[in-house]
Amino acid sequence: MKTILLDGVSVELLPSEPKLPEWIGQTEPLHQLLACWMDGLDDTDPPLSPRITGVPGVGKTTLAMAGARVRNQLCWVQQCTSDTRPEDLVITPVLGDSGKILYRASPLLSAVVEGGVCVLDEGNRMSEKAWASLAALLDHRRCVDSVTAGVRIQAHPGFRICVTMNEDGSTFDLPDYVVSRLQPRIEIGFPAQGEEDRILAHHAPRAPEALRAMCVAYLQEAHGLDLPFSVRDGINLVRLSTRLAASGGQNPLETFPEAVRRVLGADALDLGSLHRRRPAPTRTDSDEYFFDPDEEDLRG
Ligand SMILES: Nc1ncnc2c1ncn2[C@@H]1O[C@H](COP(=O)(O)OP(=O)(O)OP(=O)(O)O)[C@@H](O)[C@H]1O
Ligand SMILES: [Mg+2]
Repeated sequence: MKTILLDGVSVELLPSEPKLPEWIGQTEPLHQLLACWMDGLDDTDPPLSPRITGVPGVGKTTLAMAGARVRNQLCWVQQCTSDTRPEDLVITPVLGDSGKILYRASPLLSAVVEGGVCVLDEGNRMSEKAWASLAALLDHRRCVDSVTAGVRIQAHPGFRICVTMNEDGSTFDLPDYVVSRLQPRIEIGFPAQGEEDRILAHHAPRAPEALRAMCVAYLQEAHGLDLPFSVRDGINLVRLSTRLAASGGQNPLETFPEAVRRVLGADALDLGSLHRRRPAPTRTDSDEYFFDPDEEDLRG
């Protein structure tokens, strides 16, 4: 593990992600991400820190890491949870072998120091208190304070950051001063038919073409009905069908319905009826982020 000195305090950095994924299809979100991370004209033009949104399994984390890969940068992923404390985002004390206290950098701080990319993964699972500690890092100041080690760290010029966010209900609504620093929003939608087929071929290369075609047709129908079945579900379906077929000596096209039942549940065998029984849509996170200020009084 690499150790550096920050204002005379010795801090261990974490290693970066060993392998970065390739992004397949949908060029627009990747183009937007790379535009956000382009070098500015000078210090008054810092890079943007976008938030990547979309339904679970649509490729948010993959896009963020693939952006680092295209830029040929090292990448660290900081997993955000409701338990993440401000110090977890910067420096935490750990007990060394000799019983001495050592300081360990977070994935975020490792990227800040090394000039890499940090993906704050599932950012809106994190509390406002944790977000507040990042305000200066996310604006033109580009620095972060460690209360634990008593140091202020200025970001390397190469440092880039983005946040991925789920749109399910298990998340915090971020305060406006945080959202205004996480701009722009990059929305990932479902891939088109050919793109989805290429993604499945990449992740399940042993699956027969006819099985992939069956799975893509199924996913495309689900996307058309606005059901939240994602690329990740497709990869799981193809992998399970192939395995069930191999272990039972069957054709994988025959095992596909069984895979749907086991991965997505029996209801998912009839997409039309699942769509009809779906509850009415609720407010999306975009409604939360961009509410009409005139309505604020009504929100209490
Ligand atoms: N465009 C793509 N190119 C390559 N792989 C993809 C693409 N989209 C999705 N995948 C694959 O689909 C799976 C799910 O993607 P990922 O984990 O990035 O989704 P996510 O949106 O971050 O999900 P969650 O909200 O649950 O964190 C991964 O195996 C990923 O590699
Ligand atoms: Mg993710």
